[in-house]
Amino acid sequence: EKGGYEHFMLKEIYEQPRSIRDCMRGRIYPQQGKVQLGGLKEYADKLKNVDRIIIVACGTSWHAGLVGEYLIEEYARVPVEVEYASEFRYRNPIISEKDVVIAISQSGETADTMAAIELAKEKGATIFGICNVVGASIPRTTHAGVYTHAGPEIGVASTKAFTAQVSVLTLIAFYIAQQRGTIARNKLIEYLTELNEIPELVEKALKANDHIQSIAAKFKDSRNCLFLGRGSSFPVALEGALKLKEISYIHAEGYPAAEMKHGPIALIDDEMPVVVIATKHSSYEKVISNIQEVKARGGHIIAIVTEGDTEVKGMADYAIEIPQTAEPFVPLLATIPLQLLSYHIAVMRGCNVDQPRNLAKSVTVE
Ligand code: F6R
Repeated sequence: EKGGYEHFMLKEIYEQPRSIRDCMRGRIYPQQGKVQLGGLKEYADKLKNVDRIIIVACGTSWHAGLVGEYLIEEYARVPVEVEYASEFRYRNPIISEKDVVIAISQSGETADTMAAIELAKEKGATIFGICNVVGASIPRTTHAGVYTHAGPEIGVASTKAFTAQVSVLTLIAFYIAQQRGTIARNKLIEYLTELNEIPELVEKALKANDHIQSIAAKFKDSRNCLFLGRGSSFPVALEGALKLKEISYIHAEGYPAAEMKHGPIALIDDEMPVVVIATKHSSYEKVISNIQEVKARGGHIIAIVTEGDTEVKGMADYAIEIPQTAEPFVPLLATIPLQLLSYHIAVMRGCNVDQPRNLAKSVTVE
């Protein structure tokens, strides 16, 4: 049942080229520059005219929502708010029939996310779901939605469901952009052509596994770890930190790289590993300065870099390459080495990676 892998988590990490492909199947038409989302078809006009989107979710799904915020704002130019479902439901949120709410949930059963949906529904909002488990409570409650099609996720720590959620959000961002005319057809052709290659690039990123395992051996006894990123790599850093803490029980925090100097920099000493997403995209130079700040204080840098990079490699203690891709798809690739790093560290520490202590696959209590 684990398909020859030692743990479900590893099997699910390795399934991602397929799960991302399944998620995009029949939904993108690169040559025509077209995204088609059957589940949202009835609401195409609503999305064309929407003033604001609110995303509600918990945990890893909330991190996917943050990536979605970057993508939807950048390409569809619609303001997005991303809320923890548990916070949203217990204040008196300002919401009306004009709003579109997107609820993200792998299990489709998370109690807080369900309650947030019910509240928004009462106030007249249109609710879309991004769920993995077909026919679960959340997809039955929403007005419409897009399944992630990642297949059953057994490992408690979410891996392939996260990249599938991010894939769906990427499709939704382009879909809304297409309806609103905020993206040029030739740009969409270019992006969708590249998106279509992502499963192969994920496959390539997985090839760094042995190298990542050797890095894991160096840091397995760490007590703390920081994860830094900017732009859409910031939520990837949050997700990297969550993976490490939940399966290895090492205290880890994700931060926007520039926020480090506003506090967390005080933690840096020669025992602190700092994982930095430093791919060659818009904030490359800025991230390099953040790396120098860490190095100056004796911290150890594990950098996620674009294939062929020399500059960051020259200053990092360890570098893990991911294939070159266009900016909107960096989260899908940068997530892979972080999953593997957490996995190997947890295994080396003798942790039960598939069933971490105190955690359950679906959180049906509030
Ligand atoms: C982390 C993890 C949890 C879930 C969260 C929401 O690896 O699995 O943080 O992401 O409990 O669950 P769903 O997506 O089922 O609503």
